[in-house]
Amino acid sequence: MLNGVRIGIIGTGWVGSSVAISTLHAGIAEELLLHDVRPDVADGEALDLAHGAAFYPSASVRSVPLEELRQTDAVVIAAGRGSRPGETRLDLLRDNARTIRQIADRFRDYNGLVVVVTNPVDVLTYQFAVASGLPHAKVIGTGTMLDTARLRQVVGRTLRIAPQSIHAQVVGEHGDSEVVLWSSARVAGVALRSWPEWSAQVEHRLAEEVRRAAYEIIRRKGATNHAIGLVTATLLRVVLRGENRVLTVSRVQNGTLDIRDVALSLPAVVGKLGAVDVVAPELSDAEREQLTRSVDVLRQAIAALERGLSPDGGRQ
Ligand SMILES: NC(=O)c1ccc[n+]([C@@H]2O[C@H](COP(=O)([O-])OP(=O)(O)OC[C@H]3O[C@@H](n4cnc5c(N)ncnc54)[C@H](O)[C@@H]3O)[C@@H](O)[C@H]2O)c1
Repeated sequence: MLNGVRIGIIGTGWVGSSVAISTLHAGIAEELLLHDVRPDVADGEALDLAHGAAFYPSASVRSVPLEELRQTDAVVIAAGRGSRPGETRLDLLRDNARTIRQIADRFRDYNGLVVVVTNPVDVLTYQFAVASGLPHAKVIGTGTMLDTARLRQVVGRTLRIAPQSIHAQVVGEHGDSEVVLWSSARVAGVALRSWPEWSAQVEHRLAEEVRRAAYEIIRRKGATNHAIGLVTATLLRVVLRGENRVLTVSRVQNGTLDIRDVALSLPAVVGKLGAVDVVAPELSDAEREQLTRSVDVLRQAIAALERGLSPDGGRQ
């Protein structure tokens, strides 16, 4: 447990409650503070989690008013609704943007790290950063960290190798226009593309499986929560312990690969000061083209939001 560390979670539905349990197991907070617009839900989650105290590293859990979350080291935003079956993440934009803007207004002078999880996560990370005026490195969206985790799992399953040993990443939008960087994917220093029995068909099938993962889970159980809970707790740990790990997180970009004024995921070194150093990955021509398309999709969504209109969705 990190002494004195306080972590807040705003929105304690499927995702917020999974972030909470993963964060407690990770042993990174002395205090975990929960807030929901439905106070009973946050109270109930806090009680339920507190009853498990014998089984995770020492920490207290309680529900609090939003104001109290301003005195935390990191706050996770999982407030807002999830996708409905058949809906894209960008369809969610109008509803959740209102919620994010209200929260950002209350965090203008916040000193901690903000982790945005609410979808569409890239557009809302951008919106939170702009509306709050906080340093861009300290407003981080979980972005394609989840898609990268899914990619490593499906590639590992295919090769019968643990996901921890698969070096492959997804960048761009956390959504339909995401880009799998197959050209630089490696296992044991060997390019995945020279691995026995690897083929363009395998790539296509696995990329599609990763891209459709959330839809498939939502169709079956109505939400996704466990993997994003683990992803978010890992991100919190990396920041609060200053691990300087490279993660594919979303932030407002400031010129890497000539991308700026939009939030999306590129590999970044993440540590105490947030996602400060963004790394330009090697890209094939096709990957560069796909990334440009992803930037366009997100710019259109931001523009639609700024015009106060509903965008026409992210499915291309
Ligand atoms: N970024 C990712 O990879 C990822 C993965 C899974 C889900 N999500 C997103 O996370 C969000 C939450 O999903 P969920 O399944 O937990 O939804 P949910 O409906 O179960 O929970 C959302 C919670 O937010 C609360 N809430 C709404 N407005 C609020 C406000 N202004 N202040 C405080 N609380 C508020 C609701 O009362 C509810 O308890 C969705 O936008 C979903 O799409 C993102």
